[in-house]
Amino acid sequence: MNYKRFYDMKISIIGQGTWQGSMKGWGNDYSENEYIKGIEKSIDLGVNFFDTAEIYGNGYSERLLGKALSGYDRESFVIATKIAPFNIKKWEKHLERSLMNLNMKYVDIYQLHWPTPLYVNLKKYIEQMGKAVDEGKIRYIGVSNFYIKDLEKIDFKIISDQIKYNILKKQLNDDEIKMLLEKKKIVIGYSPLEMGVLSGKYSHDKKPSGYLRKNLPYFRKDNSENFRELMDFLNQLSERYGNSISQISLKYIIMKDVIPIYGSKNPRQSEENALSFNASLKMEDVKKIDDLVKNLNIKNFSEDWSKLIRNMPLLLQRIVLKSFI
Ligand SMILES: NC(=O)c1ccc[n+]([C@@H]2O[C@H](COP(=O)([O-])OP(=O)(O)OC[C@H]3O[C@@H](n4cnc5c(N)ncnc54)[C@H](OP(=O)(O)O)[C@@H]3O)[C@@H](O)[C@H]2O)c1
Repeated sequence: MNYKRFYDMKISIIGQGTWQGSMKGWGNDYSENEYIKGIEKSIDLGVNFFDTAEIYGNGYSERLLGKALSGYDRESFVIATKIAPFNIKKWEKHLERSLMNLNMKYVDIYQLHWPTPLYVNLKKYIEQMGKAVDEGKIRYIGVSNFYIKDLEKIDFKIISDQIKYNILKKQLNDDEIKMLLEKKKIVIGYSPLEMGVLSGKYSHDKKPSGYLRKNLPYFRKDNSENFRELMDFLNQLSERYGNSISQISLKYIIMKDVIPIYGSKNPRQSEENALSFNASLKMEDVKKIDDLVKNLNIKNFSEDWSKLIRNMPLLLQRIVLKSFI
């Protein structure tokens, strides 16, 4: 594994996300035991960065992560969790709950899951969280799903932005990422495999399991032709370099200087994903992928979900997200 240094943290250039640890909506083809073994496999291969959130299974994912890491040296990990915007006013209570779930004394990066509506004075809460930094309960404050205009509103007073970032969908473009890196921010890429789409194993007649992925547009019959050219190219790269399509998709993100956090259900997926740091890919391949994506015309390509969510009143956000995530 390779590592990057951010402030006093040494972070593996690829991390693992733990939404699958909610054990909800991702299908029934894995068990808690296999999932935990998947985390252990990532650790064996040098991954030291894990991301979770209080809303994943209402704390379940945090608890499983805490359980999986309990036998290891806490100091060797960088652990990030997220507070939902609808809990921001009671952030102290929610931080305590996350620490209890994780069975940890501190969290390395405490992230706001997505921006708060305009009527919330976010700057005030971020300043308040400085108290938990002083007390050693949070090492750094981060955000997620923030566009540059959202970051400007809080004067970039955070260490990281976790954005949707994969071959197909990007919340920030190359220039915006460069600007954040120059400001010494960590750019973390979530859904790096577009929830499994970019593993190459699905198609319109073989869809992923679980309700969370039921309506992804890529597998509509009328989109499959359009999508095939890109998938064929990823397949070619996979054969040329002897790496899986998932590994090519993750390496693409690493080459954009973003830290991908893959989701994984078992040791086999973790192994393949963690080893992607070593996959082969050239800049000319990255450019060709970008060109193919520019020409894609996916019908029913929904707006990024965080745009929909952020425009909902906080009470509605709570109801919607607690039922599905
Ligand atoms: N901040 C946010 O708003 C936000 C939003 C979404 C996610 N996230 C974070 O990002 C993490 C990752 O994103 P994600 O969970 O959306 O999914 P992802 O990493 O894009 O895809 C994960 C899924 O792809 C399949 N997969 C993974 N590795 C594979 C491999 N090597 N070969 C074949 N299939 C493989 C698995 O599903 P199957 O086996 O069922 O195919 C797995 O559940 C989350 O766990 C979470 O921590 C954050």
